Amino acid sequence: MTTPTLYTIALIPGDGIGREVIPAARRVLEATDLPLDFVELEAGWETFQRTGTALPPETLEALHGCQGALFGAVSSPSHRAPGYASPIMAMRKGLDLFANLRPLVSSPVPGSRPEIDILVVRENTEGLYAKRERLEEGGHTAIAERVITRRASERIARIAFQQARARAARPGARPPLVTVVHKANVLQVSDGLFREAALAVAAEFPDIPVEEQLVDSMLYRLIQEPARYDVLLAPNLYGDILSDAGAALVGGLGLVPSANLGEQFVLAEPVHGSAPDIAGQGVANPVAAIRAAALLLRHLGHEAEAHQIDAAVQAVLEEGPHTPDLGGRAGTEEVAEAIRECVMRNA
Ligand code: NAI
Ligand code: MG
Repeated sequence: MTTPTLYTIALIPGDGIGREVIPAARRVLEATDLPLDFVELEAGWETFQRTGTALPPETLEALHGCQGALFGAVSSPSHRAPGYASPIMAMRKGLDLFANLRPLVSSPVPGSRPEIDILVVRENTEGLYAKRERLEEGGHTAIAERVITRRASERIARIAFQQARARAARPGARPPLVTVVHKANVLQVSDGLFREAALAVAAEFPDIPVEEQLVDSMLYRLIQEPARYDVLLAPNLYGDILSDAGAALVGGLGLVPSANLGEQFVLAEPVHGSAPDIAGQGVANPVAAIRAAALLLRHLGHEAEAHQIDAAVQAVLEEGPHTPDLGGRAGTEEVAEAIRECVMRNA
């Protein structure tokens, strides 16, 4: 008798270390008892060079037949490449994945500061990443328009407050706090609207304390006293910057996952990029991608299996083996295998 498939999960390794960490995360997912089916899909810079498009229409179409996706990373050139558009941005927009949730949690590794348990809630569809850029004055002036809408700001704020409430309900949780991050003292119109929308939503959640913090001093205080923060609610670019900076406080980019959420779909990914400096060497830390796989299961409603993976990651971070970014000598596969075995033991 064959087991019925519970979900079809898309795997999109992308470029660089995405192709190393996504197969590793797949093996860990396969070690849970959930009946999962996988389809592997193409996207990224290499796909663009081969086919002329970074996100082939077949990939987007196949995604609509899946319940969730695990994405690695893609390489994007910093120079202008005619016809190239980042597939992750296109998927976020195309599937209306409006919320990007990035947990930053202390890990038992030397580079991590203690007692950090933060959730960055990043608006995922607009802001400066609306990518309304143009050249004027014969190419001597570059202009980027920043789009902030009340609708997108309110819906991301609602996610932040709901998450704060859910986090506070966990056993042994600290009191909730939502920090609204903006720069409304300078960008009074655009960040002003984001701030106003966030504070209006805050009024719907009288049980959740709210505060605001200008983005530059936010980064300063995050580094100074990271343990005081709970949920950080930010527009797109600020959320992107805060999450990489926050990663440095909890052991590095090799450890931090994220989930892109829409009403109908969840796409999980590590926060890191394609890391061309270490790609192809088999030394990328698979933990961020494996934690992303756990987030995927959590947002699909499978808390027990998500917890099983997180606990296995925690055990391997405590005891090793470790990849070189954590001071170890193990490769991607050895670490993934240790986590997989730990999941199997506890299944
Ligand atoms: P990056 O995140 O790829 O790498 C930054 C640094 O962290 C590098 O030194 C890298 O070796 C290290 N690192 C990252 N992940 C690691 C892991 N799992 N294990 C061990 N070390 C790790 O950021 P970078 O270098 O700025 O960007 C490289 C490329 O990735 C660019 O083309 C960029 O556009 C793209 N990128 C793609 C993203 C995505 O697809 N979601 C996100 C960020 C960058
Ligand atoms: Mg980023």
